[in-house]
Amino acid sequence: MNTKILEKTVNKMMVEPKGLLAMDESSPTCAKRFASVDVEDSENNRRRYRELLVTTPELNRYISGAILFDETFNQKMSNGEYFRDYLTAIDILPGIKVDTGAKDFSNHKDEKITEGLDGLRDRLVDYASKGAKFCKWRAVITIGSSIPSTACIVSNSNALARYASLCQESDLVPIVEPEVLINGDHDINKCNDVTKITLDTLFEQLDIHNVFLGGTVLKPSMVISGDKNSNRADAPTVAEMTIKRLLDSCPTNLGGIAFLSGGQSDDEATSHLNIMNTSNKNLPWRVTFSYARAIQQSALNYWRGKDANMSGAQEILASRAKACSDASVGSLS
Ligand code: G3H
Repeated sequence: MNTKILEKTVNKMMVEPKGLLAMDESSPTCAKRFASVDVEDSENNRRRYRELLVTTPELNRYISGAILFDETFNQKMSNGEYFRDYLTAIDILPGIKVDTGAKDFSNHKDEKITEGLDGLRDRLVDYASKGAKFCKWRAVITIGSSIPSTACIVSNSNALARYASLCQESDLVPIVEPEVLINGDHDINKCNDVTKITLDTLFEQLDIHNVFLGGTVLKPSMVISGDKNSNRADAPTVAEMTIKRLLDSCPTNLGGIAFLSGGQSDDEATSHLNIMNTSNKNLPWRVTFSYARAIQQSALNYWRGKDANMSGAQEILASRAKACSDASVGSLS
């Protein structure tokens, strides 16, 4: 592990006023998103759509790194250039999702365990040799009447730590993503409690595995009411409780924090981030975004697979990326 390389990459990922674009939807997720706008799920359409995203004018003013799915990482654009090389050329770091998905957790109904450790060392060496600078691994924690279980939190945190340590061996910055799902009717206090156990367990496992925190980025969910809660907490409360949770659970020497949007509306995702950054000027780490839906969804809705809609979709994408960028420095108007 070369800590200088890892720190250099983290600094670039976290540079103001930028954040990360998550465009690493797995094939089944991409199929679902395309179906919602009547676009056929084919390799060519996935390439067309992702080309629309990365060729958006001035994207690099707002985005420091893009998380790719394996297909896109190894895919060529219509001009014959690899996506990963194009991104590097426009000063956006190429990253790669390396988990192989959240699968049913044995003996634990309604819970998931993320897989992908087998053969990971060799895959990381390959990605690094092709120019990847960072990786992502997402663990899923579900809130329900008697879940999450300790087994789910400990096993997922252990996998995240093993993944992170393998990444750093190849000088790749690990993004560790423990997503506490928004789905459910729980209140914000319940989310806070589950997020606390999740983050505390994760940092304990990262410590046990000697993961270099200065070369690691946390991608957390916000502390927020469940999407079916009848009395959802307002934006200032979400921002305040989220920052309090991070200050309480995250070591100060962590490389940076970049939120997922997790099913929040575009406005919620930007407004929560903006309040966090206007109300807290001296946080120990940069707090920015690593959104997929909250950057992409409105552009996808406009595109609907039509070439004629491409530049309009890119304008929408640029305006979403700018709003997220503004929110990341607390200057969203
Ligand atoms: O792993 C999840 C994505 O990277 C973030 O997606 O912003 O739509 O929750 P999201």
